[in-house]
Amino acid sequence: MKNTSVSFKKAKTEGVKLTMLTAYDYSTAKMIDECEINGILVGDSLGMVCLGYKDTLSVTMEDMIHHIKAVSRGSKNALIVGDMPFMSYQTSVYDALFNAGRLIKEGGAEAVKLEGGAAVCKQIEAIVNAQIPVMGHIGLTPQSINVFGGFKVQGKDESVAKQLIEDAKKIEAAGAFAIVLECVPAKLAEIITKSISIPTIGIGAGAGCDGQILVYQDMLGMFSNISPKFVKKFAEVGESMKNGFKRYIEEVNNGAFPSQEHTFSIDDKIIDKLY
Ligand code: KIV
Repeated sequence: MKNTSVSFKKAKTEGVKLTMLTAYDYSTAKMIDECEINGILVGDSLGMVCLGYKDTLSVTMEDMIHHIKAVSRGSKNALIVGDMPFMSYQTSVYDALFNAGRLIKEGGAEAVKLEGGAAVCKQIEAIVNAQIPVMGHIGLTPQSINVFGGFKVQGKDESVAKQLIEDAKKIEAAGAFAIVLECVPAKLAEIITKSISIPTIGIGAGAGCDGQILVYQDMLGMFSNISPKFVKKFAEVGESMKNGFKRYIEEVNNGAFPSQEHTFSIDDKIIDKLY
């Protein structure tokens, strides 16, 4: 069954958990989609896990469109959410609307995600009014790391906790269909989840959220530059890949690969005519 912004909201009313993972390319999106996930986020984490940047700030609209296109070709039933990169929506409501439209029209996204609370609600409202579903994102918003002073848990003190609850309510009022809660204490995430009627999708926000999301390279053990506490490794694909790469190098060096089995043959009579 095709997942949509409407089915996301329905899942919350029915008490059904939502599952999301990130993806950035066709073949990974196809595998994830075949596992019947609810949503795939083409996150701007792309910058770190695929492009090798130290943070998400350098990711461009062109990067996002390129990867969203590949993911949407690979996915049939998951809701495809495209991340709005840094400075594609903060600058003005016009820019937000224009760039959200590009992710849908050029990339093939079915919804967009943007980071921030009350400060970006005008942008959310305008995008929703243009018939584009919006997913909010509060808590540790990686595009704000220079203000946060690093990748740190948000909402541990009273004022920030209260602000996050207010932000969530404002994002809902602006028309968003879901909100990502990143790196906030589990009890605060539970309060936020209960105080709004749209689903919360947690990452490092505990089990009380309406759904969960992880970066796929993190949960498969494929990315070791940073290892946040909230990531559970569901497989050791990185090790398995490295073993495969090493065996390939070894077998090419010792002549075991390619063997007869992986080689094409030709009639000897033809070979004789080549000398
Ligand atoms: O960019 C991303 O992958 C994200 C998720 C971590 C929620 O925003």
